[in-house]
Amino acid sequence: MKFFVDTADTAEIRDLAESGLVDGVTTNPSLIHKSGRKFLEVVAEICSITSGPVSAEVVALDHETMMKEAEILRKIADNVAIKVPLTIDGLKTCKALTDDGTMVNVTLCFSANQALLAAKAGASFISPFVGRHDDNGFDGMQLIADIRLIYDNYAFDTEILVASVRHPIHVLESAKIGADVMTAPPAVIRQLVKHPLTDKGIEGFLADWAKTGQTIG
Ligand code: E4P
Repeated sequence: MKFFVDTADTAEIRDLAESGLVDGVTTNPSLIHKSGRKFLEVVAEICSITSGPVSAEVVALDHETMMKEAEILRKIADNVAIKVPLTIDGLKTCKALTDDGTMVNVTLCFSANQALLAAKAGASFISPFVGRHDDNGFDGMQLIADIRLIYDNYAFDTEILVASVRHPIHVLESAKIGADVMTAPPAVIRQLVKHPLTDKGIEGFLADWAKTGQTIG
């Protein structure tokens, strides 16, 4: 399963990339706002850190303006994936862009039927939001399992990009179901490495090592 980082914080992306944990990056207008930086500038910097797909979202609601925005965004770098909302205009934009060889991430997916439409529109990625789905009394992981089943039934190439990941169990379940990608905030990716027995083990080994009175090198 590929790991994308859901952030516009370039220091975090650089740091995680050094551990091989960044196969791509997702941003959204809220994350850009949080960064306090200029949208095009931050996307360009992220594209210089990773060669993986970097999602940049259009903010227009109509197809024509979405295409104009996408034109600006895709010129930033070859690895920009245009993010469009799951609306009829978003799907129209998805089809036009993917027919033209541009990666598209269809976002704000909350049903398997929506995911089916995105695949039919040629989406490179579909982003089901599991955390927000859970928050509203639905089962986010069941949504991922349903999409996996449907995409496999018809051999769609669209990659399932699990989004709105809130905790390590979302990551574990996504991997068990066979999602292609998950995108999580840096803090959740860092949580994955933690285990109390790992910490306890390090502590025990270091205590015994100190008793040897030795040093390495
Ligand atoms: C994905 O591309 C989105 O940016 C993101 O996962 C949204 O997550 P949130 O529900 O935590 O805002």
